[in-house]
Amino acid sequence: GFATRLVTLTVNGNPVVLDVQPWVSLLDALRDRAGLTGTKKGCDHGQCGACTVLCDGERVLSCLSLAVMKDGSEITTIEGVARDGVLQPIQQAFIDHDAFQCGYCTPGQICSAIGLMREGKAKSRDEVKELMSGNLCRCGANTQIIDAIMKVQENQTR
Ligand code: FES
Ligand code: FES
Repeated sequence: GFATRLVTLTVNGNPVVLDVQPWVSLLDALRDRAGLTGTKKGCDHGQCGACTVLCDGERVLSCLSLAVMKDGSEITTIEGVARDGVLQPIQQAFIDHDAFQCGYCTPGQICSAIGLMREGKAKSRDEVKELMSGNLCRCGANTQIIDAIMKVQENQTR
């Protein structure tokens, strides 16, 4: 067999040790090894954003990240976004603004939106749209997704 490597991650606050082959993506490690299937695999090629998670607070495409490269990192997946059953404002805003239909893109959209707001670069609606453009929605909920993010950003700066 091929040599595997131990990778230690903190996932949603919990230590996770995985024995992975060097080419296993963070996405597959999370879904298939850690059993966290909330993170979705759309294209597996960096083109849809469905696999977006937070790595040390920054949004990353987990399909393009090798698990071994993330050794020691702190990962937040959609399963870890709500705390103690309390939705984060962005999650509530998605509900309030009908920002999803099938829901397939939603975990990635939420993680990407959290990362975007943390980056603090996108102020205007156009900037938010531009910096969320890596997260595709086949259902066409993009307008509502931007509405939800704008609402949360407004509330934060108030
Ligand atoms: Fe990663 Fe599409 S699954 S960008
Ligand atoms: Fe269906 Fe976005 S809600 S792909």
